[in-house]
Amino acid sequence: MSKPPVGRKLGQKVKKGKLKASSRRWIERHINDPYVQRAKLEGYRARAAFKLLEIDEKHQILKGARRIIDLGAAPGSWSQIAAKVTGSTDEDVRVAAIDFLEMAQLPGVKILQLDFLDPDAPRLLMEAVGGTPDLVISDMAAPTTGHQKTDHLRTMHLCEVAAYFAVEVLGEGGHFLAKTFQGGTEKDLLTMLKQNFRQVLHIKPASSRQESVEMFLLAKGFKGRRAGQTAGLDEGREGTPDFDPREVDSEEDQA
Ligand SMILES: C[S@@+](CC[C@H](N)C(=O)[O-])C[C@H]1O[C@@H](n2cnc3c(N)ncnc32)[C@H](O)[C@@H]1O
Repeated sequence: MSKPPVGRKLGQKVKKGKLKASSRRWIERHINDPYVQRAKLEGYRARAAFKLLEIDEKHQILKGARRIIDLGAAPGSWSQIAAKVTGSTDEDVRVAAIDFLEMAQLPGVKILQLDFLDPDAPRLLMEAVGGTPDLVISDMAAPTTGHQKTDHLRTMHLCEVAAYFAVEVLGEGGHFLAKTFQGGTEKDLLTMLKQNFRQVLHIKPASSRQESVEMFLLAKGFKGRRAGQTAGLDEGREGTPDFDPREVDSEEDQA
C-alpha cells in the first residue's frame, strides 16, 4: 500500500482567476494528491479505497467476509472492494450500502439512498444484505457546518450509532470498522466495544491526510450475542468498569 503511486506529474498549480484562494488550494491539493491519481488508474471511485485496503493489509478484515454492510458509502469505493471480496452479484447480493447522497449503481451492491439515522435504516439494511453480515464498515462523516466542534460531535454520534448497529447485527467473529476523530471516541463507546470484541484499535492509515484529525476505529472478532442480549446491555458479561480509553491498542501506521 505504501508503494509510490504513479501517474500524472505532481506539483501542478491552478491559475489565479475567478476562483477563491481556498477553492484554488483545494483543487491543487486534489489534483496533486497521489492517491487521487492512483484511484483513477485502478478504477476506484474515491481515494478512500486505499484507507480500507491499507487497514486490511495489516489487519485482514476482508478475508473470508461473506456479507458486508457499508455505511456512508457514496461515491462507492469501499462498496467496490466489498463486492469484489464477497463475490457479490446482482443475482446473489452480499453487500448493502447506504448514503443519503445519490450513488451510481454498482454490480452486486444493493444501495439505499437514505439517512442511516432513519429508524427504518437498520431493518432495510438487513433486508438488503440478505443474511448475517460479518463486516460492518462506516466511513460516515457528517456534512460540515463550518463549526468545528459541532461537526466533530455529529460525526462521533454517527460512529456511535454505527457501533451499536454492528453489535446488533454482526455474526460471531465479525469485525467493525468506522471513521472517528483523534481523541474523539467516547469512553462509554470504547467500553462497549471492548466488552463485545476481542480487540479494539485506533488506526491512522498513511492514505488518511496527515493534517486531518480523521482516524479509524477497528473492533475485531465479535464475541457474539447470547439470547436476548442487546448492545451495551450485557449484564452477564465481564466488563471493564474502570476502563481507561488510553489502554485501547493504538498504532500509527507510517507511510
Ligand atoms: C467520506 S464519504 C464516504 C466515502 C466512501 N467510503 C467511498 O469509499 O467512496 C462519507 C459519506 O458519508 C455519508 N453520510 C454522512 N452522514 C450520513 C448519514 N447520516 N446517513 C447516510 N450517509 C451519511 C456522506 O453523504 C458521504 O457520502
